[in-house]
Amino acid sequence: MIDLTYRNLESYNQAKEKAKNNPEAFWSEIAANFHWHKKWDTVLEYNFHKPEVKWFIGGQLNITENCLDRHLETQPDQTAILFEPNNPSEAAQHISYKDLHSRVCRVANMLKANGAKKGDRICIYMPMVPELAIAVLACARIGAIHSVVFAGFSAAALAARINDASCSMLLTADGGYRGDKVTPLKDIADEALKKCPTVNCSIVLKRTGQAISWNTKDVWWHEAIEKADDHCPAEIMDSEDPLFILYTSGSTGKPKGMVHTCGGYMVYTAYSFQNVFQYNKGDIYWCTADIGWITGHSYIVYGPLAVGATTLMFEGVPSYPDFDRFWEVCAKHKVNQFYTAPTAIRALEKHPVALVNKHDLSSLKVLGSVGEPINAEAWHWYDDHVGKNKCPIVDTWWQTETGGILITSLAGVTPQKPTYATLPMPGVQAVLLDNDGNELSGEQEGILAIKHPWPSIARTIWGDHERYKNVYFSAYPGYYFPGDGALRDTEGNYRITGRVDDVVIVSGHNLGTAPIENALDEHENIVESAVVGFPHDIKGNALHAFVIPREPVADNETLIAELRTLVANTIGPIAKPDRIQVVSGLPKTRSGKIMRRILRKLAAGEYDQLGDVSTLLNPEVVEEIKRNS
Ligand code: WT7
Repeated sequence: MIDLTYRNLESYNQAKEKAKNNPEAFWSEIAANFHWHKKWDTVLEYNFHKPEVKWFIGGQLNITENCLDRHLETQPDQTAILFEPNNPSEAAQHISYKDLHSRVCRVANMLKANGAKKGDRICIYMPMVPELAIAVLACARIGAIHSVVFAGFSAAALAARINDASCSMLLTADGGYRGDKVTPLKDIADEALKKCPTVNCSIVLKRTGQAISWNTKDVWWHEAIEKADDHCPAEIMDSEDPLFILYTSGSTGKPKGMVHTCGGYMVYTAYSFQNVFQYNKGDIYWCTADIGWITGHSYIVYGPLAVGATTLMFEGVPSYPDFDRFWEVCAKHKVNQFYTAPTAIRALEKHPVALVNKHDLSSLKVLGSVGEPINAEAWHWYDDHVGKNKCPIVDTWWQTETGGILITSLAGVTPQKPTYATLPMPGVQAVLLDNDGNELSGEQEGILAIKHPWPSIARTIWGDHERYKNVYFSAYPGYYFPGDGALRDTEGNYRITGRVDDVVIVSGHNLGTAPIENALDEHENIVESAVVGFPHDIKGNALHAFVIPREPVADNETLIAELRTLVANTIGPIAKPDRIQVVSGLPKTRSGKIMRRILRKLAAGEYDQLGDVSTLLNPEVVEEIKRNS
């Protein structure tokens, strides 16, 4: 295992100082802990106005040599991936670094034998089984750019992502288990591939054994792998070569394919993983996210493996077979660091605490939270009942775009404060801005922005650098603008207050309202729609859709049911609005812009906080919406 960790406040403070005074020397020293085929010539070149960011320029490496080969000398038998299946009666798998290395090499050879090469985009649409992590690493091994699409997305969403990146190959499975449900992944993929002319091969893993249809481009994984041997030299990559694309929703219809590159991403995910969770050799670390999201990329796969950790991968859901599954798995595998989302905590908090107490959680040392602000009640429940008040809680703020955790405490090293993500990591220069882009000092509330690049910042949006510039670098020139608001206390601790744009975080998933509106508008009887978030006690936020029908319908319920299905089919079940309200109009300004601020207040039932509605073009619709809520 490599060790990049600050074990006390003093060394953390020294690091912060150093990173502030000389970021390049600071990151260069950290990067020197990794295996490079060629050392970089220049640590950093950047210009936030252009925008352009490059780290470790001229350096050559392969991230999988750092995640796998390097550990073979020191800890070949250490468990790399500990797999816990959906069904508790199926045996867990302990995959050692040696085995993982050999399985990744075989899959890499299988990809090559089926035509994949460096720079190709490969879409991965798979359940949470070890082969998913192996597929990701196999792409990285041969320098192909992986684009993992969460296995809960619909055929239309999958097709849009495959086409955006012109993927030449798809890796999928017959089906996937999630709780008592089976997702027909192959059927969904078949539907998607009808619209994806660039895909010339689809490799199918057998997981559930369900009946599927078979097409000319399909190849069975278990057949193709038979011919593949386990020797596969790593492709040598430039530091700034793309490692992967991962889509995140934005405030316009099209998802944004965030591009992460090899060198900086490796350095930052490994460094942040070890420091935030204070990982020690032999610890069992469990992040409950899905590899379909950035949390899974950075903190199930790359960060933990780069330092030689044991990372637990869970196929199931927290409620199956019962609401104590998380605690049962923690006890069974003696988990030391447990990283989950506030939405899961809030869902589990609703069930009797006896479900927690019946399991021996004494192995736990660190708890983590990610994805949205954690409210005080959930924070204390987590602290009292799961951590028994002896485990530090790291509330980690970051994004798909940031690649790694930017604001957090370091477990047991820096002070925690309930509901606060606390302090920026060493090397991360966070600031608060007012609406005009002036930096605020001291205790304030404002717009969160970052002043200087860190190694794992996304470098562009695939195929649309202009949009990258517009979304992240134009609102406040000279800064990276994440889209969140924040409060800062006198000690400099940050509390994230939520999105300041049209993105809603539902159960920890970042959903753009625009794509959902586009889906609703596809319905033949919908002329216009507006979707906003409202506070929800389990999901954090839920969606409220206001829809205007072309013709009034006798039966709103049927229309609403059709709209829910439409959203599920276009984007995925997670995007289905909790509430759909049929209205005759939407509150608009005189220039025709929908007043989302008013819709948000209406959806939240905060009728006394609507402000002045008399300037609206159509104030009467506000009354109508109130009456019919
Ligand atoms: C948005 C990014 C980071 C991986 C999971 C989500 C919100 C994330 C926190 C936190 C408050 C948080 C922000 C951010 N968010 N972590 N600890 N406290 N808010 O990644 O889908 O790219 O979403 O999630 O609003 O901008 P994502």
